[in-house]
Amino acid sequence: MPKKSQTASASGTRAALKSPGKTELRPPARDFQAQVFAQYPLEVASASGVWLMNTRGERVLDLYGGHAVAGLGYAHPAWSAALAEQAQTCQFQSNAVAMQVRAKAARRLVRFSKLPFGSVFFVNSGAEANENALKVALRMTGRAHVAAVEGGFHGRTAAAGAVTWGAQAKWYGFPRTPFDVSFIPRGASGAIAEHVTTDTAAVIVEPVQGLAGAVPLGSAFLATLRARCDEVGALLIFDEVQCGMGRTGEPFAANLYSVRPDMLTAAKALGNGFPVAALLMSPMVSASLRTESLGTTFGGGPMACAAVNAVLAAIREQRLLERVRRLSAYIRRSCLVGPVSAVQGEGLLLGLRTTRAAKEIQAELLECGILTGTSSDAHVVRLLPPYILEEQHVDLLRDALKDLDP
Ligand SMILES: Cc1ncc(COP(=O)(O)O)c(C=O)c1O
Repeated sequence: MPKKSQTASASGTRAALKSPGKTELRPPARDFQAQVFAQYPLEVASASGVWLMNTRGERVLDLYGGHAVAGLGYAHPAWSAALAEQAQTCQFQSNAVAMQVRAKAARRLVRFSKLPFGSVFFVNSGAEANENALKVALRMTGRAHVAAVEGGFHGRTAAAGAVTWGAQAKWYGFPRTPFDVSFIPRGASGAIAEHVTTDTAAVIVEPVQGLAGAVPLGSAFLATLRARCDEVGALLIFDEVQCGMGRTGEPFAANLYSVRPDMLTAAKALGNGFPVAALLMSPMVSASLRTESLGTTFGGGPMACAAVNAVLAAIREQRLLERVRRLSAYIRRSCLVGPVSAVQGEGLLLGLRTTRAAKEIQAELLECGILTGTSSDAHVVRLLPPYILEEQHVDLLRDALKDLDP
C-alpha cells in the first residue's frame, strides 16, 4: 500500500509543502536566473587563449578553465572553425541516424584512450554519463549496492548524487537513493573488502578527486579496488569527468596509474565548452547492451561530436599531453611561495595547500587579475588551467603568490 504522502491530492500536497522561514526567502533575481550559484566577483565579456576579458575591459588570467572545461583555452581557431563548419553542414540528427562525424568521434576517443574499450555512448553531462554507467552495472549484475569513495563527487542527479560524498547532508533532495550505497574511506585499501562484496554491482571512483582538492588516489589503492571487483564480480567505474581527457598529462588517469576500469566516464574538457560527455565501456560491458538499453536525444549530436574531434586533433597536433606534464612540473617547482605550503594533484589538476583560508587567497589572487578555484578542502586553492598554459603565465601566479602574506 502506498504511503499517504504518495497519494496526497494536489491541494493536500500544497498544504504539506514546508513553508520557508522568513530568513530563507530571497528576493527574486532581477535577471530571472535561479540563485543557486555562489558568484565570483567577475563578469566575463569575452575570452582568448588563457585570458578572460571582464566587462570593464580588464584582462584576467584564467587558471580555473571554466571548471576544468576549457582544455584548449578560449577562441581556439580549429575548434571554433570545426563548430562553425558543422553548424553549416548539419547541426543535428539523433543517434538513430548514422553520421560519420559521430562514428569518427567514437573511434578517435577509443584510440586516444589507449585502452581496449569496446564502445562509446555519448551523452550531455558528467552526471548523465555516471547515471548511465551505474544503470548498466546494476542491470548487468542484478545487484543493488554501489560502493563509492569518501570525498568523491559524481554529479547532482539521482544516481550520481547518491554516490557523491556528503550530498545527502547538503543538497541531495531526493527522498531516498535509488540503490544502497556505502563509502570506502579514502586511500584505505584495507577497508575495501568490507565495502565491496558479492552484493556490490559497481565501485565508482574519481582516480584523482577534483572537488575534494586535487587528491590523487594512487595506483596501489586503485589496483586493490580492481582486484576486489574481479574477486566479487563487481564492475569498476572510473569517473574521469574532471581528471580525464589529458588533464593528468596522460590520456586518462587509468593510463597514469595502469589500472583498467570496466567503464570510464569523460566530460568537461572533452568538448572544450560544447556540452558533451562520454561513457566508454569494455567489450564485456558493451556486449551486454541491447537496443534501447540506453537513450538520449541530444547526446552524440553532430555539433558535440565535431567539438570532440577538434579537441582530440588539437591535443595530438599541439602535443598538449607533453605540455601538461611540463607545466605541471613547473608549477610544482615555482609555486611553493607565499602562503603555499605544498602542491598536490596530477598534471594540471593541482591543489595549492595554503597556510591561510583558500577563499582568502583566491580573493586576493583575483584582485591581482588571476582566477583560481577553491575546493571542499578549506585550505586548498584549485588550479585547472587550459592545457595551452605557458611558463610566463605560471610566473605571473608565482609573483602574485610571493606578494601575498604567508
Ligand atoms: C568528477 C566529476 N564527476 C561528475 C561531475 C558532474 O558533471 P556535470 O556537472 O557535467 O554533470 C563533475 C562536475 O564537476 C565532476 O567533477
